[in-house]
Amino acid sequence: MNAAVADQITAENPLVEGLERLPVHPTTLVIFGATGDLAHRKLLPALYNLAHEGALPERFELVGIARRDLSQEEFRSMARASIERFSRRRPDADVLEVLLGDMRYLSGSFDDDGVYTDVEQTLREFDEKAGRPLDHIFYLSTAPQFFPVIASKLGAAGLNEAGDAETRLVIEKPFGYDLVSARQLNAEVLSVFDESQCFRIDHYLGKETVQNLMALRFANALFEPVWNRNYVDHVEITAAEDIGIEGRAGYYEGAGALRDLVQNHMLQLLSLLTMEPPSSFEANRLRDEKLKVLEAIVPPAVEDVASMAVRAQYGPGVVGGVRVPGYREEEGVAPDSRTETYAALRLHVSNWRWAGVPFYLRTGKRLERKLTEIVVTLKPVPHLALQSSGSVGPQSNQIVLTVQPDEGVSVSIGAKIPGARMRIRPVNMEFRYGTSFVSESPEAYERLILDAMRGDATLFTRNDEIEALWGIIDPMLTAWSDDTTSPIPQYPAGSAGPEEANALLLDCRRWRRL
Ligand code: BG6
Repeated sequence: MNAAVADQITAENPLVEGLERLPVHPTTLVIFGATGDLAHRKLLPALYNLAHEGALPERFELVGIARRDLSQEEFRSMARASIERFSRRRPDADVLEVLLGDMRYLSGSFDDDGVYTDVEQTLREFDEKAGRPLDHIFYLSTAPQFFPVIASKLGAAGLNEAGDAETRLVIEKPFGYDLVSARQLNAEVLSVFDESQCFRIDHYLGKETVQNLMALRFANALFEPVWNRNYVDHVEITAAEDIGIEGRAGYYEGAGALRDLVQNHMLQLLSLLTMEPPSSFEANRLRDEKLKVLEAIVPPAVEDVASMAVRAQYGPGVVGGVRVPGYREEEGVAPDSRTETYAALRLHVSNWRWAGVPFYLRTGKRLERKLTEIVVTLKPVPHLALQSSGSVGPQSNQIVLTVQPDEGVSVSIGAKIPGARMRIRPVNMEFRYGTSFVSESPEAYERLILDAMRGDATLFTRNDEIEALWGIIDPMLTAWSDDTTSPIPQYPAGSAGPEEANALLLDCRRWRRL
């Protein structure tokens, strides 16, 4: 990023804040899978926004690698189109030109040694041009079967280290397919790279509202005293989506909701919500605490899965006024597919703080609306003297963290309805990002790319953590794949999910409305 352009942008918009102030070492970022969907929708637009904010290092080079045979110009115009379509802000022509000018495209197949010779030459050329060794970040945004191939080819070409500069490997999800394959992938990657060089992405950790969960817990004296089994009755974590599989049948058929969202994003939310306070926000201190709490979630025995987990598939229905097909009618999906598009589970964290508190998780595609939230419901007060006819009725306090949309936190409290009688009704105290902060939140990928360039692994998943995450859902994967006969519950697209999911809730509770 040209410093003059960055200065001009900051001068024009004094509210630009945050990311650009952090020092980043000069870097070459190499994206494997640079013509893929993730690069198109997320990575290139994120890089543009970092450039726009002056957050990229002054010396920044970008290399895209993919199989498609494209000229430099064709790749740049593809990148331009992606940025123009998906950037969260309208691109500024000058900033865009500088960023596109820094891009280089290499075509070839990921298992071809020639590609790595080209990468090595290109990196050397950039170092020479800069007159100093640049840090190297290899970003694996390919189909997962290429992760070990690329890691080992990088090692064989001597690209796993760069003398005085840093080399890092960023690995997209899915990291593994189950516990055994995740262990195997860890072993393969770690035979070439050191753990300190590995940055396993979970984009939920890059979301501002997810990090705010830690601010809420650890920067306020108000919540932590009640954050335990003495006060918390139960917790619900919802990650509902209104979209379907968006043409990704090839991936989704082999994944399903448990692998796609629960193993990573939802269990990450659960670990941040339940971990002990870390002594510092240094990467390993934080990840030690997450690991401890994940290890306290005792995976169910395979034969107990039916009583604590429900799977389902969406059928045809109406979402946002549009008629949509059922999952089994989607292109590329087998008409007798048993892949779940909805999963709900009840988990317990077996430690001193959380013993006896049920944690309910649910996620699904083609539900009524997009909503990601964590709801902590406190126990009712022990004795209520304030009973009066006409009360809507005191309800347990709820602390609701909305990750998306309407990002913020609300706390429901019982308040007196004005008038002569002592009538109580729940009301909300609200904090909304949109109204409290003037600057727009960065996209998760902006934050994560920047952190990887700065070598800060706090918001990335460590090898032992990834294995603990898989360990929790492995029995469910086994139980569901072993059961090839019982019918998979169906829910109409656009609904709140299957009725069967209500059976998971103890004490006649109901899921919150979406
Ligand atoms: C991805 C899943 O990891 O997360 C997708 O593969 C899902 O299936 C997406 O749609 C949801 O992310 P977000 O940020 O839109 O909640």
